[in-house]
Amino acid sequence: MTALPIKLKSEAPVAPALDRFKRPLRELRLSVIDRCNFRCTYCMPADSLQGRGVFLPLVKLLTDHEIERLLNAFVQLGVEKVRITGGEPLVRPGIPGLVKTIASVPGIRDIAMTTNGVLLPRLAEDLAEAGLKRITVSLDTLDEQVLHTMSGGKAVLEEVLAGIAAAEAAGFERMKINTVVQKGVNDHTILDLLDHFRGSGHVVRLIEFMDVGNSNHWRRDEVVPSAEWVERINQRWPLQALEPKRASETARRYAYADGQGEVGFISSITEPFCGGCSRARITADGILYTCLFANKGTHLVPLLRQHDDDDALLERIRQVWLDREDRYSELRGPGANPADAGDHANDPKVEMYRMGG
Ligand code: GTP
Ligand code: 5AD
Ligand code: SF4
Ligand code: SF4
Repeated sequence: MTALPIKLKSEAPVAPALDRFKRPLRELRLSVIDRCNFRCTYCMPADSLQGRGVFLPLVKLLTDHEIERLLNAFVQLGVEKVRITGGEPLVRPGIPGLVKTIASVPGIRDIAMTTNGVLLPRLAEDLAEAGLKRITVSLDTLDEQVLHTMSGGKAVLEEVLAGIAAAEAAGFERMKINTVVQKGVNDHTILDLLDHFRGSGHVVRLIEFMDVGNSNHWRRDEVVPSAEWVERINQRWPLQALEPKRASETARRYAYADGQGEVGFISSITEPFCGGCSRARITADGILYTCLFANKGTHLVPLLRQHDDDDALLERIRQVWLDREDRYSELRGPGANPADAGDHANDPKVEMYRMGG
């Protein structure tokens, strides 16, 4: 099928859109499919709808061309960076072709992907060739039994490590390894994981277990505050705090004083980072959300499918961003107004595998 030409009347780049807290729109996190070959207990547990196999029909997914049109609009509003997420993005049929399309959008300077890694031996080279710049692999532990449990019986350590090796061989250096920490589940295996990646050039980021979605049985007492990790790791391998590179960074970074690389902490529960949040999210079926914890989104498909120019699309997205006042984690985190703080695990929220992490 030949792609239709993209029609945008306004050719000149529009000044970056600023939300109500003056945060620019810079990054788009694009979920390209809600399916996954894992069933992580903190994300898509086997007893959740999707865990039981209820997914978007493939015909509902935005096409590559629709994604291209969306990106052209987002670039006009200030987006420079796209992170491809899922579900598991590598199970979307034809993913290297989509990466190539995204890479061809003028103004996109950085394309990254978050994956569980197991399909990388098949796809890493094609992804590199298509223009993917960076890969983040999710890996919660090197203990095979714990990994089996946390992935809902789906992950095999050897396969994830083979994925990381395949990405290295395809030229992806300095990868990030995302590790969700749950007290009593994998916290006793964290130092081994850090040890494994010290000196490898890859950066492990420990992520506080978040109350995202409604199906992951989140409990505050399973969160290990990052501050505890900094202290514990510092006792084993002295750490030096690093300056943030950008206001929008999700992770607080530390270097190992002995030169063996760095480690990051993503602490949405105990140290929220909404102040610099410049991330918009699109689901695989084209719903725009302006916060990971949002429960209301904007359906963009009608604008994509009923109009033959994209100005209406651009204006709609701009308006959503201008009206944005999300700061979920800050409102509920330490120092929050008592009326807002407390347990929000049961507030209606969109699942992470729909929204994209
Ligand atoms: P870079 O693109 O390299 O800056 O990485 P990143 O940290 O933006 O991306 P990544 O997908 O690796 O994010 C790591 C994890 O941080 C995600 O899986 C989420 O768990 C969490 N995260 C990312 N963005 C947000 C956010 O806006 N809010 C909250 N609360 N958590 C986020
Ligand atoms: N809390 C923290 N991180 C999560 N992720 C998925 N669910 C959660 C959660 N409840 C992370 C995964 C992966 C990315 C897609 O999101 O570890 O790195
Ligand atoms: Fe799949 Fe990633 Fe969710 Fe695990 S965290 S179930 S790998 S989308
Ligand atoms: Fe951004 Fe919402 Fe996360 Fe805050 S909680 S950093 S506003 S996505």
